[in-house]
Amino acid sequence: MNRLQALNICMTYQNLNHHVQVLDNASLDIDEGKSIGIIGPSGCGKTTFLHILAGLETPSSGSIIFNDANLLTKDDNEFTRIRSQLFGFAYQFHYLLEDLTIYENCSIVFQISKSTNKTNHETIISTLDELGILNIKDSYPYMLSGGERQRAAIARAIVNRPSFLLMDEPTGNLDVDNASIIQELTLNLSKKFNMGILVATHDMSYANKLDEVYKIEHGTLKFQKNG
Ligand SMILES: Nc1ncnc2c1ncn2[C@@H]1O[C@H](COP(=O)(O)OP(=O)(O)OP(=O)(O)O)[C@@H](O)[C@H]1O
Ligand SMILES: [Mg+2]
Repeated sequence: MNRLQALNICMTYQNLNHHVQVLDNASLDIDEGKSIGIIGPSGCGKTTFLHILAGLETPSSGSIIFNDANLLTKDDNEFTRIRSQLFGFAYQFHYLLEDLTIYENCSIVFQISKSTNKTNHETIISTLDELGILNIKDSYPYMLSGGERQRAAIARAIVNRPSFLLMDEPTGNLDVDNASIIQELTLNLSKKFNMGILVATHDMSYANKLDEVYKIEHGTLKFQKNG
């Protein structure tokens, strides 16, 4: 079973003339297929933690272990390759490329990873279908509603079937109905593809549906509840 661990992550930012310690020995274990929520007040370090796990930022100290291998000791190319296979990342403001259609936004994932697999086209189509947005595959992001954009961002994040989907406030700018659609879709996808989900959220109705919830307090992750 695939297992991702963050061990004793510390992160200090240097701001003008003072240090800010955001994370202080934050540790977390995520097993394949598990859904985990990270909550806590604005500025407590949720986004920072997700970025470190995905390798988008380097911690001051600590390890990111995937099945016994410490990802932080790999060289940059090796880490980038492993990261692109392991993680899908969906941001709150969904950074879809505005000049590309939804289909093209998904296919660029395969171009970046230089995958020329013949089934890529079918995978994109079935993923868009799974998320209920196949009808807008040829639309550009500006033509979509907020909920559709968020679903498109999730489709792009999972089109290469990552082991872990990391999401930062995926329901943060959606109304209650669309937020609930995203909650259900992501939980179903987790089950269907046995994909671990790690989600930073202020949305407690979402957090309450996840397998485990942790709160960041004084830079560490405190266990809150089992689902
Ligand atoms: N690149 C950076 N340089 C300096 N300080 C930073 C940087 N990124 C984040 N911080 C600081 O680290 C702290 C944690 O930020 P982070 O974005 O992780 O919080 P968050 O829990 O995601 O908050 P929110 O709920 O508002 O999204 C904040 O005080 C922020 O100002
Ligand atoms: Mg944040």
